[in-house]
Amino acid sequence: MTAPLVIAVDGPAASGKGTVATGLATLYGLPYLDSGLLYRAVGVLAERGSGAVTEASAEAAARGLDPKVLDDPALRTRAAGELASQAAVFPSVRAALLIFQRDFAAQGSGAVIDGRDIGTVIAPAARAKLFVTASPEVRAERRWKQLKGQGESVELADILTDIRLRDERDSGRAAAPLLMADDAVLLDTSNLSIEQAADAARRIVETARAL
Ligand code: CDP
Repeated sequence: MTAPLVIAVDGPAASGKGTVATGLATLYGLPYLDSGLLYRAVGVLAERGSGAVTEASAEAAARGLDPKVLDDPALRTRAAGELASQAAVFPSVRAALLIFQRDFAAQGSGAVIDGRDIGTVIAPAARAKLFVTASPEVRAERRWKQLKGQGESVELADILTDIRLRDERDSGRAAAPLLMADDAVLLDTSNLSIEQAADAARRIVETARAL
């Protein structure tokens, strides 16, 4: 019997990993988890509860997290992304979210999960690992369009600053930093359309499955 197909999709903010991951989930009929939403929910709840993202407020939010809140559109805002990255530096927060993510990866059907540490920490044995990236300028423009589409009034230059800051924080933290797994395949989507990125991702997965 072949093992269930688990696909790990990691990469920096607005790299296109969510689009690639949802496309793969649809293609292979697999359940999909956007792990960034867990951190977004923790950041938002910690701030709502205590006015700031501290280790104590974020850990309490992570321990009591109800996955039902993940559908809240408030988690998709620029502010939520910033709060998420603040909450994500705390090892106790990461530990509190670990089991949920590992269980999701281990369900018998297989799974697609996207995030920062899926191929390195959450599902190191995943059959296929993609590291999706794009230049900071391209990522800023994508995020800017997305936020404007959601009705947020934002400046492109400010989004580029956000993206650079978040890259630095996510890559520089001690706990599970954003890192490409040794056995991940790099997918640079800077010059790719959504269809081209989806096609490249499918080919990466097919190659990994054939090994
Ligand atoms: O969509 P975007 O790439 O902007 O962010 P996201 O995937 O929703 O993640 C928001 C923040 O959560 C990131 O900047 C990371 O700090 C954190 N995160 C993490 O540390 N580990 C994950 N597996 C997913 C997200």
